[in-house]
Amino acid sequence: MSDGKIKEPPVELGQSQPILIHEKSLSQKIARGSEARDILDQQMVMLGIQLVTQLNVLIKTSRIYERTNSALDKPVEAMLTLIKTMAHDQPVTLRLQNDFLFLGDSHLKVNAQQMAVATSIIDALNELKIGGITFSLTVESKDLREFAALFVSLDPDNKTIDDIRKEITARGIVGIEIEEQRQLQIRTGIETAGGTGSGTPGNTGSDGTGSTDQKVQRKMNAKNGYAKVAGSVGALTQSSREGGSISFKQAKRAIQNIIDLMVDDETAVLGLTTLRCHDQYTHNHSVNVSLLSMALGNRVGYPKVDLADLGLASLFHDVGKCAISLDILNKPGEFTNEEWEIMRTHPTEGVLALIKLRGLSEVPARMAAASFEHHMNYDFSGYPKLAAPWTQSLSSRIVTIADCYDAMTSSRVYRREPMSPSKALNLMLSKSGKSFDAVLLKLFVNCVGIIPIGSLVMLETSELAVVLKPATDKTQAERPFVKVITDPQGNPIDHGREVDLTEKNEAGDFRHEIIRLIDNTEYKFDTSRYFV
Ligand SMILES: [Fe+2]
Ligand SMILES: [Fe+2]
Repeated sequence: MSDGKIKEPPVELGQSQPILIHEKSLSQKIARGSEARDILDQQMVMLGIQLVTQLNVLIKTSRIYERTNSALDKPVEAMLTLIKTMAHDQPVTLRLQNDFLFLGDSHLKVNAQQMAVATSIIDALNELKIGGITFSLTVESKDLREFAALFVSLDPDNKTIDDIRKEITARGIVGIEIEEQRQLQIRTGIETAGGTGSGTPGNTGSDGTGSTDQKVQRKMNAKNGYAKVAGSVGALTQSSREGGSISFKQAKRAIQNIIDLMVDDETAVLGLTTLRCHDQYTHNHSVNVSLLSMALGNRVGYPKVDLADLGLASLFHDVGKCAISLDILNKPGEFTNEEWEIMRTHPTEGVLALIKLRGLSEVPARMAAASFEHHMNYDFSGYPKLAAPWTQSLSSRIVTIADCYDAMTSSRVYRREPMSPSKALNLMLSKSGKSFDAVLLKLFVNCVGIIPIGSLVMLETSELAVVLKPATDKTQAERPFVKVITDPQGNPIDHGREVDLTEKNEAGDFRHEIIRLIDNTEYKFDTSRYFV
């Protein structure tokens, strides 16, 4: 009946408690890098996820009930137990960074069931531009209740972090502090200021991801990585057509490199998917689906090993097309019904091809599943049609989104003209919860942006610009980072400036506006050259 009765998983303290409460300063006595330390860190992460879960329940319940209502008892008590356990040595901080949740500096990787909860907290924090909440041992029941009441009463448009801090003090809340959002480049350690209006006016170099040299180097690495993955798909496809047997070693190594690059700079890798080499459709499509799937898998919280599996599975999702004659595959016009029938066999043919290539016991389940299930659709409206009930795997649901997006934005598969990225995304959003898993699709939009990477836009100056990466501030998703590529008359220019569309001038107005989304096909621009 109400949100107050949200069914959240119960707090499982039993298995995680002992290590942490035996001795107060245990965590300081265990050396970093030791096995015991790893176990301790893992336990903290597990508790962190429980803390997020309970915080989510507390906030949702507080939207309905008064702070003293007994409906709040359970989440408040659970949070207090967790905080007392976790904050022995130092206060515990839940942090939001680049749309990922962290406990202190540890990434809270959530599984599929926990994803809805994590997304809900991420959205709530983003809305108020809160980057982190710190809980100290001194926190009490009344503080948590008051804080939650304050949290749900805030108007996102009018409150700054300082205003919220003042409110916290005014309401006598003890043991809870908030911090601003910050953007941290994983691994490179270069911090940039988050929020609006804080960048250098004009050309910010878009994202502070290091010097021009570093950027150029990363782009080259990314491009090489792409070529290697494409090369291995080519070799494997050939071998499959010829009935040979092959190993996935080369592809695996190439995928591994891509994952390392992606952790450093997701944009550089996603930018590669705008590469559209028309005569190479199948290879490019496979690589793009793989890159997009890995980026989405990363957002979902797949650990690196699983990301590599997902990368490989998505790379070969269409391997079954090897069983289809090239005359049909490369047919210039529309398919006949009979040809469609044949095309629709490629998911099952894919499983057979994989078994032929590697032997039944050697085919990873995820790979077979990605091939078999990638056209099934979330609501099973797709193909193959099965008589018995079926559960589509998480990896396949990811591949379905990546596959559909790339197929629509490329010019070959089943249609003559490619669709602009934003048109494709809108079409997909209209099928959210039907063809696509709604939560995954939302994460995918966070990945490519609501005006997706590679889109062409017209600014108020009449200059054309290409979208380089989504806005860092999710509440301003319609204001991505762009690179200007023409003058106001439409003449292409080299080395155009990069603009953060969330930037404001001294008067507090946005410096630039997008006045029109351009269909990439309308202007024959190859936007990929701005990425690679
Ligand atoms: Fe397919
Ligand atoms: Fe495909």
